[in-house]
Amino acid sequence: MSVAQGEKVALVGANGAGKSTLIGHLNGVLRGSGTVRIDGLEMDKANLGRIRALVGVVFQDPDDQLFSPTVFEDVAFGPTYQGHDKPTIRRKAHQALEAVHMGDYAGRNPYHLSSGEKKRIAIATVLSMDPRILVLDEPTAGLDPRSRRELIELLLELPQTMVIATHDLALVERLTSRTVVLGGGEVAAEGSTPAILEDEDLLARHGLR
Ligand SMILES: Nc1ncnc2c1ncn2[C@@H]1O[C@H](COP(=O)(O)OP(=O)(O)OP(=O)(O)O)[C@@H](O)[C@H]1O
Ligand SMILES: [Mg+2]
Repeated sequence: MSVAQGEKVALVGANGAGKSTLIGHLNGVLRGSGTVRIDGLEMDKANLGRIRALVGVVFQDPDDQLFSPTVFEDVAFGPTYQGHDKPTIRRKAHQALEAVHMGDYAGRNPYHLSSGEKKRIAIATVLSMDPRILVLDEPTAGLDPRSRRELIELLLELPQTMVIATHDLALVERLTSRTVVLGGGEVAAEGSTPAILEDEDLLARHGLR
């Protein structure tokens, strides 16, 4: 499969279809046979650093993403690693926290947050790096309806290329123009989002309806 610059693509499929596995290949966390190319760069050891600067991945489980004693440090980690000066780091971290409506949480311990709060902070840790490509694994899982709606609106406003694995078909419909259906580790179908969402048989076969 391929994703064009600026496109927002949904990855859907039943539990175990391979969505998270595919995502793990987009920033080199997982390696296997075959080829992954990001912005013309082949995924290999030599390009890994450049690729990771381009691709921001929000993992399915926020606990894989949060490791600092405070929320601020987690969200500042990316811009710090990118080598920005202190005021810029602070600005980027606070902007990212505001974007997910977690501005008041900077001093909190990430381990002591609810799962929806953790998810929002995990998204902020990636937004703060301003990646050109955003890859989100189940971004709305565990969010309350208002947070979920606000996140979808936020993602709609962002210009980044996006690949979003989700079971949330309302998100797919609102946010993405193209949908890829995975089944058994392979692309089972792909097409415009309206065409895929209209195909009741296809959705039923892949446990989506
Ligand atoms: N670390 C691992 N080692 C071995 N097999 C794994 C590992 N992680 C996942 N798998 C297997 O790979 C397959 C694809 O899993 P994956 O997590 O990519 O599915 P998914 O589409 O993201 O599902 P979900 O909707 O439940 O998140 C599954 O059969 C799963 O059991
Ligand atoms: Mg998954």
